[in-house]
Formats: sequence, structure tokens, C-alpha cells
Amino acid sequence: MTNKYIYFIANWKMFGGLNSLNSLNKVIKFLKTFKRNKSIKIIYCPPNTLIEPMSKKLRKSKIFVGAQNCHQAENYGAFTGSVNSTMLKKVGAKYVIIGHSENRQTGETDKIINLKIKSALKCGLKVIFCIGETLQEKRKKITKKVINKQINLGLSKIKNRSNILIAYEPVWSIGSGMIPKHKELLETINHIKKKIRKCKVLYGGSVNSKNINQLKHIHNIDGFLVGGASQNPNKFIDIIKKSYS
Ligand code: PGA
Repeated sequence: MTNKYIYFIANWKMFGGLNSLNSLNKVIKFLKTFKRNKSIKIIYCPPNTLIEPMSKKLRKSKIFVGAQNCHQAENYGAFTGSVNSTMLKKVGAKYVIIGHSENRQTGETDKIINLKIKSALKCGLKVIFCIGETLQEKRKKITKKVINKQINLGLSKIKNRSNILIAYEPVWSIGSGMIPKHKELLETINHIKKKIRKCKVLYGGSVNSKNINQLKHIHNIDGFLVGGASQNPNKFIDIIKKSYS
């Protein structure tokens, strides 16, 4: 990996309470002494309930906080259970994950994703835009077609893409322990980079402290979106360290 920054994004999903913030102490300490700390960006995406206390805790560190989703409306409104980008930004979020397959599976369409991305960018949040094929689509060998559609619709009418990171997350690899083969992943990341020039492309799906030894050799990957393994600070630190070893 030869890029200026390598991104390590921790997606805590629906895990963690206030006491989980203590686990960040280790990561803060690690980052201070890590020789390559100028070339990495760590972003923690906890549940919304932890965004504010986490932002306060990380204020003096070089670690950023992001949300895991947002509502597409820019203004306040009668949307029970929802939070928009403006509200997330006010409590300290700098990034937001949009289009995660766990949300796509509950009915989030490409059109809604497009609206969410537009409103997040307008509010000044950076977007981590998730794309990826299901196992069925992979078996049908239509991965590129699926990705093209997700990109075309998700980023429709968005000209300035400088604040967007792409996270390629094959749905079948999330939480399954399976990762794509080296050649497949290299090709898919290249395909995405050709399609969206100048965008950083991260990989996500079962990244752990063992398979990072394989993944780090895929030179066109600009970082990792880590779910399960990011909840444990030792595992997360291990992933970062091994990416450079
Ligand atoms: P996982 O999750 O690392 O637990 O597979 C990744 C994600 O869903 O972002």
C-alpha cells in the first residue's frame, strides 16, 4: 500500500456502551508512539448514543469519529427514530457510513442512499460509501454490474467526490470469516478506481489480525473498514501494526 494515508475505520455496529470508551485508551496510547502515525487515519464509528462522549474523549487525539448512518432530510422533521447529518455533526461526527449492506437489506434503496450522501456532504460530513455484491450475484458473475449500478445511482449528480471514501464490502464476506481471493479483490478495486477516479477505495468484510497479512499485499487498497475485530482494541491495533510490517 503506497498511499499517503491508510484508513482504518472501526464500525462498532449496534455494540457498546459508555464503558466501552475505556477501550480507546489503548488505541490513543498506541497511536502516539506508532512510527507510521503520520500516514494513517483512524475513524471510529460507534452507535449514535456514543458519538458525543467519544468525540470528547478523542478531542486531543488524532482519531476521528463517524456515524453509521443518517437520515436524508437536511432539516429537522417528523421522522421518528431518525437522526440527520446536521445533528450528527453537532455532536462531533466528521464522517458517516452510508449504504452499508445491513441497511440496504432493510430496504434502503440506491435512491435514498444518493439523497443521504448529498445531504451529508452538504452538511460538511465526509462520506464512507459502502458498495458490494451478494453471494448470489457473485455466483452469477455480475459483481462489476452490481457495483456499477450502486455507484451510478448512489453518486448520481454528485460532481465533487473529494469527500467520499468508497468501502468495497462484499455482502458475503461481512461477518462470515470469508474474504475474496487476492486476484478477485485486486481486480474489483481496480475496477472501482477506474470508474471513480481519484477516490480512495477501502476493503471491508471479515478483516482480522490474521487475514490482514494477505490483504496488505493488495497494493491498490487504501484502507480497511473493520467490524467485529474493531471492538477489541488489541485486535484493532494488531491489524494496524501488521498492515505495515
Ligand atoms: P466485519 O464487518 O468486519 O465484522 O465483517 C464489516 C462491516 O460490516 O463493516
